[in-house]
Amino acid sequence: MSRIAYVNGRYLPHSAAHVHIDDRAHNFADGVYEVILVMAGRMVDEDGHMVRLARSIRELDMVAPMSDRALIHIMDQTILRNRVTDGMVYLQINRGTSPRNHAYDNEALTPTVVCTAKSVVLPSDPETIGGVKVITLSDNRWERVDIKTVSLLPNAMAKTAATRQGAYEAWLYDGDGNVTECSSSNAWIVDLEDRLVTRPLAGNDILPGITRDRVIKLAAENGIEVVERAFSVEEALGAREAFLTSTTSFVKPVTQIDDTVIGNGQPGTTTRTLLAAYLAFAREVTEQAA
Ligand code: PDD
Repeated sequence: MSRIAYVNGRYLPHSAAHVHIDDRAHNFADGVYEVILVMAGRMVDEDGHMVRLARSIRELDMVAPMSDRALIHIMDQTILRNRVTDGMVYLQINRGTSPRNHAYDNEALTPTVVCTAKSVVLPSDPETIGGVKVITLSDNRWERVDIKTVSLLPNAMAKTAATRQGAYEAWLYDGDGNVTECSSSNAWIVDLEDRLVTRPLAGNDILPGITRDRVIKLAAENGIEVVERAFSVEEALGAREAFLTSTTSFVKPVTQIDDTVIGNGQPGTTTRTLLAAYLAFAREVTEQAA
């Protein structure tokens, strides 16, 4: 079955889906996006994603192209038309197309809206899942990484560096040696007091991950203490457990950071508990919506 993409009001074969060369996302990375998990054909944590999208649009001084309801309809249609049961939907909204000029005039622009969806294999059983290696790199991104913009070159370069070293992700650290987040996910450790630790949102130096937020709630429901505080690469190397979270990685155990094996080299109990809780949550909400 051929893939279908939504572009500015039309559902087109993926191969025929194009935007103009004067599109501002092409020339200036002037746009925002969301990636939403799809399970059983339904979006997971749709509300959280829509709130974050609206905030990204606001923070970039863009104008929403249509109501949330209309955007959700486009995403639902794209999921349906691609027959995605388990997978992800991608929505990009950028400022629109006009002759290249750094300055923009929102009133003269019509935002570009693009949506695609694809199937992905869900993570394996929490009991048998393996861990991944990550590398550490200096975080060289701009100061507003809390906005989910398509301006992702440092992220893409960090991920590529990780891939070239046989690693799954790059954990980024700030000038104080503290971990911010990863190239496309949030970073977590379980410290020596068995507390779950992740960097706080204050400071705009991480993306407020929707999975991060969900995992904080699930941890509380499972009696796991969460502390939102900065942690250093050094602390992570000596942590009991480490993992990362994102819409497409769920809760992914990290068992090696650079050359150091974390804990006993196997995914830890807390990580497995949270992955199981996340999968159960996603199944439950999508079944309820069916
Ligand atoms: N990335 N941090 C960064 C820099 C990210 O790009 C992402 C998501 C996250 C996790 O956010 P969430 O839990 O809402 O997916 C954290 C998506 C999946 C992507 O760019 O494909």
